[in-house]
Amino acid sequence: MIEDTTIPLVDLGAQHAAVADEVARGWQEVLAGTAFIGGPQVTTFERDYAEFTGASHCVAVANGTDAIEIALRALRIAPSDECILPANTFIATAEAVSRAGATPVLVDCADDETYLIDADAVEAAVTPRTRAIIPVHLYGQAAPVERLLPLARRMSIWLVEDAAQAQGARRNGMSAGALGDAAATSFYPGKNLGAYGDAGAALTNSADVAAKMRMIRDHGSARKYEHDVLGVNSRLDTLQAVVLSAKLRRLAGWNVARRAAASRYDELLSGCDAVVRPRTLGGNEHVWHLYTVRVPDRDRVVKELHTAGIGAGIHYPVPIHLTAAFAGLGYAPGAFPVAERTARELLSLPIFPEITAEQQKRVVSTLMSVL
Ligand SMILES: Cc1ncc(COP(=O)(O)O)c(C=O)c1O
Repeated sequence: MIEDTTIPLVDLGAQHAAVADEVARGWQEVLAGTAFIGGPQVTTFERDYAEFTGASHCVAVANGTDAIEIALRALRIAPSDECILPANTFIATAEAVSRAGATPVLVDCADDETYLIDADAVEAAVTPRTRAIIPVHLYGQAAPVERLLPLARRMSIWLVEDAAQAQGARRNGMSAGALGDAAATSFYPGKNLGAYGDAGAALTNSADVAAKMRMIRDHGSARKYEHDVLGVNSRLDTLQAVVLSAKLRRLAGWNVARRAAASRYDELLSGCDAVVRPRTLGGNEHVWHLYTVRVPDRDRVVKELHTAGIGAGIHYPVPIHLTAAFAGLGYAPGAFPVAERTARELLSLPIFPEITAEQQKRVVSTLMSVL
């Protein structure tokens, strides 16, 4: 037998092994009860995830992109409004703003080691039309919301966290997802808390906003066939709630394991001058959704790592303003120099709770020899 020596970017099989029995039992209950949409397991998960984040309300939805859009719409973001977000994020952050009818206004990241939104640039980008700031807690660490919140309060602007990559992360002791007026997260399978398909959630401390989120996700309806606002169909499947509850019980432990893996990469890479390691912003408890370094000649490096069986990734190769989808925003190349330069150099190394020291040594030794 040939031994499989590949190391994936994310190993979902190992996670499934940990919850397989619990998920099988839970799914049997759902099959027996047949409440495939809106079953009691969804309510239980919403309660438990709200408690996990410290937010008062969790509204489970079909995916993370919907969660951002629903949060924005619940806050009455509308056409002619502007929402400020970083140029270096997954396209969904900007998509959700556009789908809510508003205009994404992009800003650069503050530096090329944390890759988090530049709070000074946010302040400079505020106009009379700005209605929301959407910091993205990129790669597993929270953006400096304490710099954005006073600005938001002063200007009567909402702060909506994109916490898709930061389940369990903390900023100055407070959980991502409970740091602003509303938040959105994604339970895409590869996330720190991942479903077995698409899933997401919107969070808020406001009962009014939560009620609005619930209506919007369910055809604008709080009571059957009474449609008070224009909504969408974005409900969480009961089967996914079972998976998410089983995994949620293990998430804190998995995040500890990710942190240990990140420290190990820090050590293993400490002598390698060609690799710029990620920096944790002071006050952050990082959950290492991704361990993203910067390397010269990145595209060649990625190719050779793949040839050697190392599942490296690029998050993200094209900043929002340089995508064809958002060309209409009118930003020229060079508009966000830090985001653009880092997009050419970023490289995500395999990281998941079960990654072994041996696997990490192999990743780093392969990377060194490729470099
Ligand atoms: C930062 C960020 N925002 C939003 C999303 C959108 O989530 P989803 O894929 O569940 O729609 C993702 C994940 O894919 C993400 O990483």
